[in-house]
Amino acid sequence: MSFDVSVFSTKNIIVAVTGGIAAYKSAILVRRLKDYGFNVRVVMTTGAQAFITPLTFQALSGNPVHTALLDPEAEAGMGHIELARWADLVLVAPASCDTLAKFAHGLADDLLSTLFLATKAPVWVAPAMNQQMWAAKATQRNLKILVEDGVHVIMPASGEQACGDVGLGRMPEPEVLAKQVSLYFHQVQRALAEKFGLLAGKRVVITAGPTREAIDPVRYISNHSTGKMGFALASACYAAGAKVTLIAGPVSLDTPNGVQRENVSSAMQMLEHSLVQLEQGCDIFIATAAVADYRVAQVAEHKIKKAGDELQVELIKNPDIVATIAKQSKRPFMVGFAAETQNVESYAAGKLVAKKLDMIACNDVSRSDIGFASDQNAMTVFFAENYQMEKRDLAKASKQEIAEQLVEAIADAMTAH
Ligand code: C5P
Repeated sequence: MSFDVSVFSTKNIIVAVTGGIAAYKSAILVRRLKDYGFNVRVVMTTGAQAFITPLTFQALSGNPVHTALLDPEAEAGMGHIELARWADLVLVAPASCDTLAKFAHGLADDLLSTLFLATKAPVWVAPAMNQQMWAAKATQRNLKILVEDGVHVIMPASGEQACGDVGLGRMPEPEVLAKQVSLYFHQVQRALAEKFGLLAGKRVVITAGPTREAIDPVRYISNHSTGKMGFALASACYAAGAKVTLIAGPVSLDTPNGVQRENVSSAMQMLEHSLVQLEQGCDIFIATAAVADYRVAQVAEHKIKKAGDELQVELIKNPDIVATIAKQSKRPFMVGFAAETQNVESYAAGKLVAKKLDMIACNDVSRSDIGFASDQNAMTVFFAENYQMEKRDLAKASKQEIAEQLVEAIADAMTAH
């Protein structure tokens, strides 16, 4: 079976390495997971560090390695709760007897055992140990508890062991583990599409990311938008059965699986592409882009040279893309976004009317834990008056989960009308 690797690009895997000789295989595991396009972060117990260094995993995962629960520096970067929320899957490989026992009994005396209790993500364990330790009654009792608790246990392979024994206890090969993970996410994606199918047959156009307004051939005006919300929505709309076109400003995100992407730079280009898409047929238009409000009136043909103490650059207003589309005769279901720092709800409700939208999702970007570069978001959704639908509060969740709730809101409103 072959896979389009981009389907996995937004999935976050924590590979937790515990103390055991099989820890060397985890280095290759991280490598293979990266090959599939997963984002990988590595957590190591103290025992693991006796077998392999954090530096190896840092280099392979491209991320700092997490080793301590109470390290203020590490907590400042990504604390254990944040890490627990970041994960879409926690894969403990190799999982030592000690770790299995801690998980089974709810101990929380190091980073990994705390993470286990704090995460909502599925936890997979790949036990690796001496065959006698594997067969020990206590180990089997703990495994039974873990299975009852919903932990997925990957059975060890049989064979010759590092200690010279022969029997069950070898960690499966990294390629096998990585493939199991990729298959799992593939199945999740398919199940989602089957379960929701909310937008089956719909054509969705989404604008995302910032725009860049050139000043001269080497300089531009832009903003900090990362495009994450738009990309998450593209993925959720596709999972809901829609045909999705993503008109993306300059962002460093992989194209979600199944989504057609058009890269643009300026607001004028974004508008042009949006109008073409509208011509080709569009049922739902979702504007998540942080379009620059102004562009430079006269873009200099050559690089502007440093001269006096002051430089005047004349700016002129950019067209409002979402409002322009909403005015067209073949008007799709229109969804806008509002990022505000104060009077969030009243400003958003005002934009809903002014831009003639059907629905607007607003969030408070003055909060540092949500919005812009964060992976988390919380939103309030308003519907146009003629829908007679109550506003919806979407509680703080990952942008992917918020996107799925927004898809439901869109489908509900379209059915209600
Ligand atoms: O007025 P404001 O820019 O805050 O409105 C935000 C909403 O309008 C977003 O949905 C954004 O994508 C859209 N917008 C647009 N074109 C602009 C400005 C904003 O489509 N020039």
